[in-house]
Amino acid sequence: MPDKFTAMSAELHRYAVEHSHGDDLLERLTAETEAEAGARAVMQTAPEQAALMTVLVRACGAKRALELGTFTGYGSIAIARGLPADGTLISCDISEQWTAIARRYWQEAGLAERIELRIGPALETLAALDGSPTPFDFVFIDADKESYPAYYEACVGLLRRGGLLLIDNVFRGGAVLDGSDNEPATVAVRELNDRVAADERVAAAMTGIADGLTFAVKL
Ligand code: DHB
Ligand code: MG
Repeated sequence: MPDKFTAMSAELHRYAVEHSHGDDLLERLTAETEAEAGARAVMQTAPEQAALMTVLVRACGAKRALELGTFTGYGSIAIARGLPADGTLISCDISEQWTAIARRYWQEAGLAERIELRIGPALETLAALDGSPTPFDFVFIDADKESYPAYYEACVGLLRRGGLLLIDNVFRGGAVLDGSDNEPATVAVRELNDRVAADERVAAAMTGIADGLTFAVKL
């Protein structure tokens, strides 16, 4: 009798990736990110998670999407591919260096028209978006972890009822369970996880995809 959950192994992960949609462009973007960013390449969205995000954006019929944390653009491509041709993704980051790679790949993927990059502290970008006439259908929070609680509050406000919010890295590599880990990033993610679990404005599920991915739909 199988367990209620199957512990992930490197082999099973590879199997899942091989049975999810991906392509040569995303593989080249991964290789370039690893060559340019070294250990920071771990920040890139996992391939099976990216495939899932394309599915979700399409399934929601999302037209307006928001991403916090562009990095080299892998997650943005996954989101933008789920949008209709006249859909838009606003993607926020503070780095000109990493988003220069993103811009090149968006161009090559034929998605540059659909993606609007906003460089600057995301909380300022979100404050400027507040009051914009059309709320967002889909939001992906994946930027600096210390600001996760503040990002969440701002994003719930910008999401339409029935809109979907995804939060990346909610496990922090398992650090959320380690009481002796008091790094500001870990403390912030723990605080947000507790807040989402008790938040009556959303229906939420924390899942073991990649480094932990929380789904929240606004009620
Ligand atoms: C880190 C950030 C991420 O968004 C991620 O997916 C993995 C790691 C980090 O800051 O270490
Ligand atoms: Mg992440």
